[in-house]
Amino acid sequence: MVQGTANWSTEQNKEWLQEYVNDWVSFYRKHTDDGKVADYIPLLKEADPNLLGISIIGTDGMKIRSGDVSQSFTLQSISKVLSFIVACMTRGVTYILNRVDVEPTGEAFNSIMHLEMKGPKKPFNPFVNAGAITVTSMLEGNTSDEKMAPIYNLLEKMLGYRPVLNVDIYESERDSSMRNRAIGYYLLETGFLESDLNITLETYFKQCSINITVDDLARIGVILANDGEDPDTKTEIIPRQVARIVKALMLTCGMYDASGKFATYVGVPAKSGVSGGIIAVAPPRVREEELPFMSGCGIGVFGPALDERGNSIAGIRLLKHIASQWDLSVF
Ligand code: DON
Repeated sequence: MVQGTANWSTEQNKEWLQEYVNDWVSFYRKHTDDGKVADYIPLLKEADPNLLGISIIGTDGMKIRSGDVSQSFTLQSISKVLSFIVACMTRGVTYILNRVDVEPTGEAFNSIMHLEMKGPKKPFNPFVNAGAITVTSMLEGNTSDEKMAPIYNLLEKMLGYRPVLNVDIYESERDSSMRNRAIGYYLLETGFLESDLNITLETYFKQCSINITVDDLARIGVILANDGEDPDTKTEIIPRQVARIVKALMLTCGMYDASGKFATYVGVPAKSGVSGGIIAVAPPRVREEELPFMSGCGIGVFGPALDERGNSIAGIRLLKHIASQWDLSVF
């Protein structure tokens, strides 16, 4: 662990931290060779597998960023966090949780088998595709653009700019995602969907295709770490109750069938996407020694080479390393 004086936000200590993170990123960049970029959405195949970048923003305003930070990528499954927040804020937490459960599945994110075999009364959780598509069907609006508007509005409030749709990725997924169509038809047959199937799927593919950067993910993360309040302006962006539920779901279901291992070895709420992004949230913690980012931070990682579960391979290893060095775990 880095040894130093108690206050980590001094300029000198910040420089040390920056150097450590630079070293860790160069080290873990080699691990990108152990993974493969997603290829089931044709355009995602074109990503450079050796990219790796990280951005960390503390609730105290300290920022550390390293590696391929200016690269933009699509939100993919990380968007499920946003659609869930928006749905809870517009329809109410009780309404949403009466229709989507909060249990991890231990199955792949796009599993249909589990749904059919267990015949649940509601989809398992908002972060597997069946649950996410159901949540998207509960967004208000009659067209996909109307349903997308509150997601963009929330992003604009958090990021200070309005991100844009990556039209090529959207069309690539829309035209190839037969598995999500199958899940959609299953949800339609079982009465889970609250909007027209095609509009729901169009919205789901659009939310997955919003362009984002690691800085953006770190910024969303720090707001969640701060219980939904913007640490700079002290204004509430996400109600505390919704932020709390989202973090619980990220911890238990955010990394799909690797969520148990991630909670054990990294120990912070996180959500991944198949483009290689991960958002992680380190809430404030109490320890005897003074450690970096004690008052909480948001972390954005991007590394498109994935492991077999669809999570960024080098991204997870980098997060695990940082979490153990800085004792970020919530446990
Ligand atoms: O539903 C899909 O196939 C994608 N648009 C999103 C999946 C995803 O990111 C899973 N993440 N690890």
